[in-house]
Amino acid sequence: MRALVTGGGGFIGSHIVERLLAEGHEVRVLDNFATGRRENLVDLLGDLELVEGDIQSYERAHAAVRGCDVVFHQAALPSVPRSVQDPLTSNAVNVIGTLNVLLAARDSGVGRVVYASSSSVYGANPTMPKHEALPTLPISPYAVAKLAGESYCRSFSEVYGLETVALRYFNVFGRRQDPLSQYSAVIPRFIAMLLRGEAPTIFGDGEQSRDFTPVENVVDANLLAASAPADLVNGLACNVALGQQATLNELYGAIRELVGTKLEPLYAEPRTGDVKHSSADISLARERLGFEPSVPVGEGLRRCVEYYAQRASAPQLR
Ligand code: UD1
Repeated sequence: MRALVTGGGGFIGSHIVERLLAEGHEVRVLDNFATGRRENLVDLLGDLELVEGDIQSYERAHAAVRGCDVVFHQAALPSVPRSVQDPLTSNAVNVIGTLNVLLAARDSGVGRVVYASSSSVYGANPTMPKHEALPTLPISPYAVAKLAGESYCRSFSEVYGLETVALRYFNVFGRRQDPLSQYSAVIPRFIAMLLRGEAPTIFGDGEQSRDFTPVENVVDANLLAASAPADLVNGLACNVALGQQATLNELYGAIRELVGTKLEPLYAEPRTGDVKHSSADISLARERLGFEPSVPVGEGLRRCVEYYAQRASAPQLR
């Protein structure tokens, strides 16, 4: 297939690019490298076509989708706290940007768009585990924006006949996730800090839970979503996760053991906009996509610690 990966320079996008190329597909990347990094594609640049630009521009999105069969729309401005700080920019990138990508895909005759949605759309809904029949109750502006993108996907399926599939990612982690930004996700942040001998801070009592999902499984789900029969997936929004639950305290314990330190965490006030508990029912992904997670959380964490430890001992890679 000829695929466009928006946000292909980012953490999840670069993993999708890597897999697509390994499987012999033609790949184009659209990225403005605002949060993505050229370095994430360094070994792949010779094998792909790079379009630099911002999804906030319809023209750039249109130039990038031309001739593609499938779009993996991963470009986004992630982070719950970032969206709380700056909801307008979160909306501009995550909602307007997604609308541009969908319009460009519609106008260029793209076959299917696979959209990176988020578990955050369940928000304040207390039912556990989260399944797709539950009402969405987004808390943060980020969650609102991701849900709007999902709704646009469904609308484009209905109104314009563009095939779309939205994947609700649950706390994805893995190699190449930025550990150093103030908006970094918890796993790379904790690993990098512990490797430096610094005590991480847990927001709240650490009894909040997440369905931490190794990125390799998310790549599997994307490829399945791109090729599953339309009558099973068109217009669908579906969970992508391991279907397990770990508290922050448990996660911290597991990372500490892998890093080989006895450092205790610090505790601070809970973060504004945070969801308390999150874990997924993945039956729908099993049924519609034939999805089966292949990398368990322990193995994912082990790979990550190895990756960040290697970088920590090679300062030019930081
Ligand atoms: C949320 C979404 C996820 C989305 C991601 C994008 C939910 C359930 N998940 O992740 O689907 O892909 O945003 O950014 O809404 N924490 C600490 N110390 C730290 C950093 C974080 O204790 O230094 C805590 C947070 O307070 C939170 C948990 O770790 O309780 C996870 O935080 P984070 O990794 O930022 O992801 P979510 O906000 O859960």
